[in-house]
Amino acid sequence: MIKKTRNTEGVSRRDFLGLAAFGAAILGSIGVLAGSLRFVKADVYSEESKKFKIGKKENFPIGTTRKFDDKNVFIFSDDNGLFAISAICTHLGCIVSPSEFGFQCPCHGSRYDENGNVIGGPAPRPLEWYEINQEVDGTLFIDAGKAVPQGTKYLFA
Ligand code: FES
Repeated sequence: MIKKTRNTEGVSRRDFLGLAAFGAAILGSIGVLAGSLRFVKADVYSEESKKFKIGKKENFPIGTTRKFDDKNVFIFSDDNGLFAISAICTHLGCIVSPSEFGFQCPCHGSRYDENGNVIGGPAPRPLEWYEINQEVDGTLFIDAGKAVPQGTKYLFA
């Protein structure tokens, strides 16, 4: 006959293995739960807004061009209104400069006409035009994250 012996120090081998299995199950459940919580929060990275103020329309007399160097945007003013053209070359992202025909990229020689259309070099696309809008207080702003069709102008009222 098998004689059951009891550990006199408090925990039998069977109880110890049972507790160990229970502990492992708890730790495993916590790990699974922690892993699941990762999916509750969307993997979305907020992007910094590309809107910036350019001042009032009085700052842009008809026929003038201003470049916002820190934003790489040209602002032009003509009889009809304002328009914004990106200074970022569509080839590899160098900054274009105004030229007698429109814009010239110093890096690989892309050339654009005055509307940003490619007229030479490796640039694959025209320069982007950006939306110009007005805040309630009359301050104009550009959204460099929002391209608009070429020829889109902020019309003076
Ligand atoms: S980056 Fe402008 S031509 Fe290459």
